[in-house]
Amino acid sequence: MSSPFISTAAGLACDGVSVADLASEVGTPCYVYSAKAVRDAYRALDAAFEGRAHRIHYALKANSTLALVRLLRELGSGADANSGGEIRVAERAGFSAADIVFTGVGKTADELAYAIARGIGTINAESAGEVDRIAARALALGRVASVAVRVNPDIDAGSHPHISTGLRSNKFGVPVEEARAIYRERRDVGSIRFTGVHIHVGSQITSPGPLARAARTLVDLGEALRADGVPLEHLDLGGGLGIAYDERRVLDAAAWAAAVLPELRRTPLPILLEPGRAIVAAAGALVARVVDTKTYPGGRRFAVLDAGMTELMRPALYGAFHRIVPVGPVAEGAAVGPWDVVGPICESSDVFGQDRVLPELRVDDRVAVLDAGAYGAVMGSNYNRRMLPPEVLVDGGTWTLIRRRQTLDDVLALETQEAGCAGS
Ligand code: LLP
Repeated sequence: MSSPFISTAAGLACDGVSVADLASEVGTPCYVYSAKAVRDAYRALDAAFEGRAHRIHYALKANSTLALVRLLRELGSGADANSGGEIRVAERAGFSAADIVFTGVGKTADELAYAIARGIGTINAESAGEVDRIAARALALGRVASVAVRVNPDIDAGSHPHISTGLRSNKFGVPVEEARAIYRERRDVGSIRFTGVHIHVGSQITSPGPLARAARTLVDLGEALRADGVPLEHLDLGGGLGIAYDERRVLDAAAWAAAVLPELRRTPLPILLEPGRAIVAAAGALVARVVDTKTYPGGRRFAVLDAGMTELMRPALYGAFHRIVPVGPVAEGAAVGPWDVVGPICESSDVFGQDRVLPELRVDDRVAVLDAGAYGAVMGSNYNRRMLPPEVLVDGGTWTLIRRRQTLDDVLALETQEAGCAGS
């Protein structure tokens, strides 16, 4: 999925809307998203699996800003929620409980009770103990909970170790060889219904092998369970499809489908997909302003932005690469050179990019950090007492503020504020 952010003679544009103009109105730092790019990415995924009974459950963890979640619902997506908070956001965005799957290692008793009481589509259980806790709670509530067991296939997703989840050394799921017994031993428990099997081997996967192997494991187990007489209704392949952060071609939706469909032909069961990044990453950019520049002896040049790891944590946390482009127009033949583009946080890891070839940067110039729509705003923090940035959605040649900038009052509203000290 190519970026909707295009450099033009007049500066950076998002679907024809000037990024400089909107950033001047809402201020920097800010997130900008293209609704068209979200729609295109969703439809490309949906089309890739056409002809195979399937349902996309957008993984809210990638970006759960209400307006975007609503957009996904309007497109016909289901939701994948990873916490009680995400379930509630999905519901606020108009999803019915039946259209939500609830995943997540370490669901609390309260979260499970809420999910069961609401009648969540499927709870993806992470352990035998969790299946039992779901059964006990459902019994107490007089409900029958739909459950799938998440299996850990011991597959190396080949992505960053922090976001690989399918290895035995990872905390996720139950070993695949133990899963069959979990289903067999609990299939007659009246307060649960085993409706599926779940797998998710990692995120930002860029080669077909791990996805194909995950599908094979899933289908093998699903068919074995059906042979055991477990009346499954779906197989959930999880998410994980990577994007091309550095513009080198990686897997796309069609390649994901091509990798898994041969395996899926061995089962009549409908499949669920839980993509997050592949739907929203390319649709978003973080726009920031240069607040300082400096050159060290030897020539290393820094551009310090008004955004940092508090707004976009991926470079600091995973050493992730994001393209950085100027927002203003770049004169033909303008001098370019290497810049270290860094944030203002008191951490040496607060770096967006080193040795980035960019035109001359001056204080007040603006730059955009691309492919920031997934795991960007959602991973923001108030570290250094910084306020969460606003978010803007570009749609149909115009833009809307979908989240305002957080204020100090928003943040301090949670804290005890003794009278007498204020203002002194
Ligand atoms: N389903 C499950 C069970 C997951 O754990 C995840 C992501 C997804 C679906 C969606 O995966 P996606 O299609 O987005 O790859 N913060 C990291 C990514 C963490 C992913 C966690 N789980 C990053 O910025 O790269």
